Amino acid sequence: MEIRFLGHACFELTEGDARVLIDPFLTGNPQAAVSADEVEPTHILLTHGHGDHHGDTEPIAKRTGAAVVAIKEIAEELSEAGVENVTDPNLGGTVTFDWGRVKLVPAWHTSMTPGGVANVPAGLLVHIGGRTIYHLGDTALFSDLKLIADRGGPIDVALMCIGGHYTMDRFDAVVAAELVGAATVVPCHYDTLPPIETDVQAFKADVESRTSSKVEILEPGGTFTL
Ligand code: NI
Ligand code: MN
Repeated sequence: MEIRFLGHACFELTEGDARVLIDPFLTGNPQAAVSADEVEPTHILLTHGHGDHHGDTEPIAKRTGAAVVAIKEIAEELSEAGVENVTDPNLGGTVTFDWGRVKLVPAWHTSMTPGGVANVPAGLLVHIGGRTIYHLGDTALFSDLKLIADRGGPIDVALMCIGGHYTMDRFDAVVAAELVGAATVVPCHYDTLPPIETDVQAFKADVESRTSSKVEILEPGGTFTL
């Protein structure tokens, strides 16, 4: 399977005929590797409702007919907006597809739906093609990352925010990498805007000296193959 980084916190997981797009913020994303018109997902998964994650979900879903998984309050708004194939789990819930499954797990952050309803954010445990990919979403460091990874794991790849300011910074993210224990960590949510600029090479060096995880730095548009 392939993991393609499309910029900020947006990734596309490809396994066979399944193209699973996570947090499709492309329009207005200075890192975007593609435009919202260029993606052809079969499924869209959302961590939370902030604009830099929810992004182009509605137009992409309407154009492609992709199945969308979003936490309840966001799912309801997407359905009301005319998106046809929406599933609405809450934290702890698992949604199964022919390619595998996704479980919503806690993340420590805030969230608002595009319509202004306060709700809670999520991380995503994605089991696809016999692998487990953990998109941490936007989160601060918290010790239950270990519990989540132990229950969902072993984690093959962790997609991890490191930019600070809106999420944990690269120093806390090293501890997060220890707690999650993924074979590979792919950093994200950094360098998109001035407040979240960070030294990704220093993060890689710290993680690889202090944990058994490898760090794969992807440029926007870059692909990691498992
Ligand atoms: Ni956010
Ligand atoms: Mn964000």
